[in-house]
Amino acid sequence: MHRTRIIGTGSSTPQKVLSNSDLAAIVDTSDDWIVTRSGIKERRIASNGEASSTFAYRAALNALEMAEVAPQELDMIVVATITPDMPTPSVACLLQNKLKTRSIPAFDISAGCTGFIYALAVADNCIKSGANNKVLVVGVETLSKITDYQDRSTCVLFGDGSGAVVLTGETGDRGILSTHLYSDGSCGKLLYQPGGGSQCPASHESVDNREHYLKMDGNKVFKIAVKSLEDAALTALQYNDVDGDALDLLISHQANSRIIQAIAKRLGLPQEKVFMNIQKYGNTSSASVPIAMDEANRQKRIKKNDLVLLDAFGAGFTWGSALVRW
Ligand code: ACO
Repeated sequence: MHRTRIIGTGSSTPQKVLSNSDLAAIVDTSDDWIVTRSGIKERRIASNGEASSTFAYRAALNALEMAEVAPQELDMIVVATITPDMPTPSVACLLQNKLKTRSIPAFDISAGCTGFIYALAVADNCIKSGANNKVLVVGVETLSKITDYQDRSTCVLFGDGSGAVVLTGETGDRGILSTHLYSDGSCGKLLYQPGGGSQCPASHESVDNREHYLKMDGNKVFKIAVKSLEDAALTALQYNDVDGDALDLLISHQANSRIIQAIAKRLGLPQEKVFMNIQKYGNTSSASVPIAMDEANRQKRIKKNDLVLLDAFGAGFTWGSALVRW
């Protein structure tokens, strides 16, 4: 069977740490509230001059090194992000230039926090079709650049960073077994950035109105996220005719520890089969699943032939899952 296998993982996060007590000094919040409601203790924040391509490049180099693949061997780059360096060119093209690859296809995908699963699915299908054989997939965000540090309901949640994987086509039973993608645009305004696009271009007024920052109705998003993530996870298991017991590790989007625990409970997974690093990074949107995957891989929490379930939900709304035989 021709499958797509993950042969290298990498990640990169900013040096600068923003702790809950740092945030309590600028908005009306507390370490206790943030930890209890979200599981987050600190997040990494880009410094001036650092942009999404900064972290995407470092994560890509780490993944390429592990895969023992030279940039010149790549035949496609797909980057998932909602915080590109600039509207155009794409982060993928900036990365193509930094990596000095051949003139291969390079493009960004925007699917909120599900972006990495979307990018993985696109790359998987390109490899399975025979069109590509060595693909770099990156999830990257600098959410701090679109976070309103006067809004306590969102600023405590988000962080910056990048994760990357190198994919190749192989015959055998290991690799990506299936991907499942979904969207529901009717919920778009529960989590969105009103300013900066063609509907509300940058103006003095839009900046004064703080329209270039993310707005979220967290409570409504929470309930839909739990249900959607559970559905996507169960679909992946049913499609592959396996049950929760067969899973070795759940790597879910790191938006809220309570959401991850709810999915784990629904799947009947014990704590040791659930990967969690939200306490260190907060919600890094498209970067959350690949950063977690890289940490799990480097900590040897994933072993050859393990069954790993990836699951994400985000702005759009979008959600999706991928089941991987490592
Ligand atoms: N510190 C202290 N109090 C706060 C804070 C804060 N940082 N933020 C909100 N509160 C207050 C609220 O004002 C409210 O007070 P009130 O009862 O007096 O009105 C109270 O705390 C409860 O607020 P809720 O929003 O109901 O709190 P909730 O338990 O829902 O937790 C949270 C909020 C953590 C945001 C949660 O709703 C959540 O995680 N939502 C989902 C986020 C998510 O999954 N996003 C999807 C992906 S993100 C992406 O795509 C970019």
